[in-house]
Amino acid sequence: MEDKKEKLTSTNINWYPGHMAKTRREIEQDLKLIDVVIELLDARIPLSSRNPEIKKITNNKKKIIILNKSDMADEEMTKKWVAALSKEAKVLVTDANTGKGIDKVSKAIDEIMKDEVEKQRARGIKNKTIRVMILGIPNVGKSSFINRISKKSALVVGNRPGVTRQKQWIRIGNNQELLDTPGVLWPKFESNEVALNLAFTGSIKDDLLEIVDIAYEFLKLNFEKHKEKFVNRYNLTPDELNEAENDSNKFYAIMKLIGRKRGALLKGNEVDDEKTARLILDDFRSTKLGRITLEEPK
Ligand code: G4P
Repeated sequence: MEDKKEKLTSTNINWYPGHMAKTRREIEQDLKLIDVVIELLDARIPLSSRNPEIKKITNNKKKIIILNKSDMADEEMTKKWVAALSKEAKVLVTDANTGKGIDKVSKAIDEIMKDEVEKQRARGIKNKTIRVMILGIPNVGKSSFINRISKKSALVVGNRPGVTRQKQWIRIGNNQELLDTPGVLWPKFESNEVALNLAFTGSIKDDLLEIVDIAYEFLKLNFEKHKEKFVNRYNLTPDELNEAENDSNKFYAIMKLIGRKRGALLKGNEVDDEKTARLILDDFRSTKLGRITLEEPK
């Protein structure tokens, strides 16, 4: 199990072969039209869901950071993240599925543009349109966010890096317009931990990786921290837990135990590892395990 780690990272490295330079150029081109950048992050993995070059790409643009998917993250931890990230930008918290928090976006844009708008007014430019763009790695909820804020139900947005098609602007407030296509940035490739976090949350498609490995790593990194959530979800008794925890391959034994408890069995009563892995990850991704944030601010 342990030696599978390298495979996870190398799979990730091939994710967007050759597209990064082009993506970057296209986004930089679009940014020329933009006053405010909204950087969308996954509240469960605010570090791992960050593009490594976002600072360079957005350079001196005014910026709002949004922790989306907050409904799936631990509330206390989200507060800590808001405090930590507030040092570099205005931070908002949203759930793009229900629209919670999205009503604060327009006001936040006005606030960070206040001085700029004043300056322009002094020069005789009244009611300048503030133009906004969403940036983020795949799967953080960019399309859902744009759908919500535009109050349209079916905005079809391609999930390829860059912004390529005809630009359209969505009115999102007084004198505010949002580019209807988000900038799709590449994720971090540099560390195994990031690759794993993206795999756990489903940002890397499971068919690219071995699901049993992902679930094993998920248990290894998160079981101790969130033990009571696992115990409750799978009705693990103290005796069962004790036995699995004393196994020489502890986390694999815990995985087997969960599989057995949930009846994920093959012929001959053996535990079906793949089915078990899928159910553990599905339970995390659907918050049936509870609301879990995988990364803490430093
Ligand atoms: P993207 O444009 O950044 O790639 O992300 P997109 O909006 O397509 O959202 C990715 C998935 O995340 C979607 O699930 C979407 O419904 C879900 N999602 C987005 N924002 C939120 C949120 O705030 N809370 C929750 N709980 N879910 C959110 P999906 O359609 O089921 O796609 P998938 O499961 O096939 O990835």
